[in-house]
Amino acid sequence: MKTAIYPGSFDPMTLGHLNVIRRASGIFDHVVVCIMKNAGKQRHMFSTTERVELARKCVERFPNVEVTTFDGLVAEYAATFPEGAVIVKGLRANTDFENEFQMALINKKLNPELDTMFLTATEKYTFLSSSVVRELATYKADLTDFVPFEIIEDIQRRAAEKN
Ligand code: PNS
Repeated sequence: MKTAIYPGSFDPMTLGHLNVIRRASGIFDHVVVCIMKNAGKQRHMFSTTERVELARKCVERFPNVEVTTFDGLVAEYAATFPEGAVIVKGLRANTDFENEFQMALINKKLNPELDTMFLTATEKYTFLSSSVVRELATYKADLTDFVPFEIIEDIQRRAAEKN
């Protein structure tokens, strides 16, 4: 069974993330969306548990996709799959490249069996990120074109609580 691990913060999941998940679910037998810590991001809109719940709502329509969380390195998580797994990432523009390339190499160094595959972002989502969504939500903007409909109200509610 070919498994893809899609790691990220997903705070919150965007339509860009969902686009990567949909495409990966057509390529791999099994896709695991793994909600992880990014050491560079300290403040979150949603807790890890909440992000897992929101992501699960978004991927319900894909039978071969599951959502989990792992408090450790992606390379360690990948090693828990006896048949092996690859990391899948979305690549938006050259601004993503340097960081993603570095992470792919580090993960390979930590776990030489571990490959990273990049799906180039669909053009209409190249501008999109979770931080843009959080900013838009703060200003009560319409989120329809940016996040899966299943989680719009959750984001609006959280933004209102924070304001
Ligand atoms: O959505 P993000 O914040 O860009 O995702 C980054 C993430 C969570 C995938 C990355 O920070 C990560 O892999 N965190 C887990 C720890 C790890 O394995 N780091 C890579 C080697 S330094």
